Amino acid sequence: MRMSQVLRQLQSEQSSAGRRPSLMERFESFLPITPTTPALGLGEGFTPLVHARTLGPAMGVPLLYLKVEGQSPTGSFKDRGMVMAVAKALEAGAKAVMCASTGNTSASAAAYGAAAGLEVVVVLPRGRIAAGKLLQAQAAGARVVAIDGSFDDALRVVRELTDRPDPRRAVTLVNSVNPYRVEGQKTAAFEVCEDLGGAPDYLAIPVGNAGNITAYWRGFRQYRDAGFVDTSPRMLGFQAAGAAPLVIGEAVDEPETIASAIRIGRPASAEGAIAARDESHGRIDSVTDEEILAAYRDLARHEGIFCEPASAASVAGIRKLAAAGDIDPGTTIVAVLTGTGLKDPDTGASLASSPVDADPSVDGVRAALGW
Ligand code: F0G
Repeated sequence: MRMSQVLRQLQSEQSSAGRRPSLMERFESFLPITPTTPALGLGEGFTPLVHARTLGPAMGVPLLYLKVEGQSPTGSFKDRGMVMAVAKALEAGAKAVMCASTGNTSASAAAYGAAAGLEVVVVLPRGRIAAGKLLQAQAAGARVVAIDGSFDDALRVVRELTDRPDPRRAVTLVNSVNPYRVEGQKTAAFEVCEDLGGAPDYLAIPVGNAGNITAYWRGFRQYRDAGFVDTSPRMLGFQAAGAAPLVIGEAVDEPETIASAIRIGRPASAEGAIAARDESHGRIDSVTDEEILAAYRDLARHEGIFCEPASAASVAGIRKLAAAGDIDPGTTIVAVLTGTGLKDPDTGASLASSPVDADPSVDGVRAALGW
């Protein structure tokens, strides 16, 4: 086909397709949107579902798919929920939003708050936030408060601050205990069903504060109840070993580890996660740092997907269950990769080999490569 023909064809396709919808527009009928909800969007949602062509077969589950949420505006799945939470905060007349975070929620709140013209305050456990995430909040102009404590401590503080609002400050809490966050995040389940042409047999997901597993399960149920799909998946949640076993919820105060984004002592949405597990006949398990790191490396090296360490907990968990013979090889599995690897350059560097030095010439590069 000649170039001019290609352009003509593209032009006609585009004019018939029209403008791409925003996430809130696309799933409006499933979301708590009213005529007074402000339209807000940074291009969230519509993330790819990628077949793990190498890793799936190697793990004994050839129908393994990856939901690549790192391709969101701020690089994590939080954006789906944040757009709803911030839009609803605006609608309610808020002047500021606030959250506790292990990094991704704060990066997302900072970006959406900036776009909405709101003041943003993020409370973070000092020294435990991946460099890229902290930078995102700072770049967007959020007020960053670091506490000497854990994520659980930070969440307790922001909950108390927003539970007893100061009438001079209209502050909305945008952690996933904000119901609009879960509403927005459930749209990922809709996309998975649409891309697969039905629900998968299993949905594997990292679990931290347990908002996202709660959201996915709600989304799958709603699509099934609406008659868009016939089935719903078994939900498989994977916590980082060292985080508290979900059902018990003992506070942990572990030193820094690679999956600190999901190392949470008292998951705020534990009930939602337990319901997801029980209603779907699923399972909640844990994976070690070593298992997470291996999955993180293999995803980058064999699938070309550089996710953040905590995200790889989903694939690490599937690998563990498949190795134990707990998953039928013929089943369709979607593993959610919640954030991009670029957020955490320090962990990335631990996997990287140093560049090879060479003279600036063909011979120099050849020599360096040993060609
Ligand atoms: N994956 C990543 C990369 C995360 O940052 C988080 C949570 C999760 C998974 C778990 O999701 O909490 O809904 O179960 N991060 C929160 C934050 C706690 O503050 O950014 P969850």
